[in-house]
Amino acid sequence: MPTYDLIVIGTGPGGYVCAIRAAQLGLKTAVVEKRKTHGGTCLNIGCIPSKALLYASEKFEEAEHDLAALGVIVDKPQLDLQIMMKHKDDTVAANVNGVGFLLKKHKVDAFFGLGTIKAPGEVEVKAADGSTQTLTATNIVIATGSDVAPLPGVEIDEKSIVSSTGALSLDEPPENLLVVGAGVIGLELGSVWSRLGSKVVVVEFLDRILPGMDAEVARQFQRILEKQGFKFLLGHKVEKIDKTPEGLRARIAPVAGGEALTLQADVALVAIGRRPYTDGLGLEALGVAMERGRVVIDEKFATNVPGLYAIGDVVRGPMLAHKAEDEGIAVAELLGGQHGYVNYEAIPGVVYTMPEIATVGATEEELKAKGIAYKVGKFPFTANGRARAMRHMDGFVKILADATTDRVLGVHIIGAGAGEMIAEACVLIEFGGSAEDLARTSHAHPTLSEAVREAAMAVDKMQIHL
Ligand code: FAD
Ligand code: NAI
Repeated sequence: MPTYDLIVIGTGPGGYVCAIRAAQLGLKTAVVEKRKTHGGTCLNIGCIPSKALLYASEKFEEAEHDLAALGVIVDKPQLDLQIMMKHKDDTVAANVNGVGFLLKKHKVDAFFGLGTIKAPGEVEVKAADGSTQTLTATNIVIATGSDVAPLPGVEIDEKSIVSSTGALSLDEPPENLLVVGAGVIGLELGSVWSRLGSKVVVVEFLDRILPGMDAEVARQFQRILEKQGFKFLLGHKVEKIDKTPEGLRARIAPVAGGEALTLQADVALVAIGRRPYTDGLGLEALGVAMERGRVVIDEKFATNVPGLYAIGDVVRGPMLAHKAEDEGIAVAELLGGQHGYVNYEAIPGVVYTMPEIATVGATEEELKAKGIAYKVGKFPFTANGRARAMRHMDGFVKILADATTDRVLGVHIIGAGAGEMIAEACVLIEFGGSAEDLARTSHAHPTLSEAVREAAMAVDKMQIHL
């Protein structure tokens, strides 16, 4: 019976990163993965394939609508979806194989099959052919991630009624795409298909898009998406979707009550969130404490069962790949005798649309709710030279700083390249920096990130270019 210091169940961004860090610290480590490839949701059916399609569809859109204004005259672009999908599949293959290589390089043993925790320190691995073997370890980390949250009354077939997984592999752009949920997945994958020709209608339960993100950013983003052709039905819910010979027929009702309406679509994307995934792990028999499907952990990622830890989408906090990675490193360091720690105040969130949205720290709404006095500095990309040169003037940077100490509490960016620009705000928040620290830091000219500096200057009304 192979024995390890650590067994990690699941090789998504949380699990594989945890295993590599543990191996670096000298722990004899094994991973168990039920999928055929490593990388979890993120690399196989999430972050990576979606970004490959977002990038490719953005190029298509540029060629169709944006290049002429730069004096680059091209024929109307033709879509070869098969090649676009091959680009996506090749990107996924390179990434998942890369994880396999990294695990080998760090001498992490990989077992493929469903992992079930039979007892503390004991994992049974059931391979696809039904064979089983038992591994033992001093410690076990659960990194089993999440799965699509179902919409009651609507059955996902991954053909006409799809989750994000099916929406990453459609055979052709649907003429009419109904998106249920104006969250990150709905708006990212809605953007892909909208750029490739689909008419997109988004039905959202709440009266706003992107709940949890800065409300001013979300409002501007909604207007931009509407200009791109999106239609929004806010404050509505999809009650059922019928398959008819003419396509899908959805019944959509106002949340506040009132008359339901009917909408025709060729494809419906259900994107109303994700649920933690613990099926088959055997947690109930072990008596592992759970809360609303999530494994309950303490500040050191420990469950209530000795030697059993959990990280990533399966525990509290945002369901983000880099959050899972950070927790993977932290728990490995704690198990390796170091001081692993995650600063949840400095975890960014990015929506990879055009323009992008990037955010770190508190929103204005959160500061108001907590009664924290704050100053606001804002700077629009219309006043940024590089943005003008690139014709990407949509959006702004907003910096929220403590009214007394000037410490930066939140940074919210909507604009091209926001996902890259947010990194300096994360470093600033991580180091407890002030708006003045950022305002006095030299930024190369001409760059989009000068808008971040100007927003920091604007916190104390020192901005130059506005
Ligand atoms: P997962 O990546 O879900 O990995 C868990 C792994 O555990 C899986 O491989 C699963 O097969 C395996 N497993 C489960 N149970 C068992 C078992 N019993 N035995 C063995 N193996 C098991 N996040 C971002 O930060 N940026 C993005 O751009 C982004 N884009 C996304 C796009 C889409 C369409 C989706 C769906 C998600 C996206 N996410 C993004 C979210 C991101 O994918 C997750 O936050 C991340 O994958 C969580 O990592 P994890 O390691 O916790 O779990
Ligand atoms: P989400 O939680 O971001 O958004 C779901 C939306 O659906 C919410 O706006 C919610 O109000 C709405 N909703 C819920 N029930 C509804 C109903 N019955 N009818 C209409 N609307 C309803 O979830 P999403 O977009 O599915 O993404 C899941 C997770 O994946 C997110 O937590 C996100 O963190 C992660 N992800 C991250 C990405 C990124 O970082 N760029 C990209 C894609 C996913």
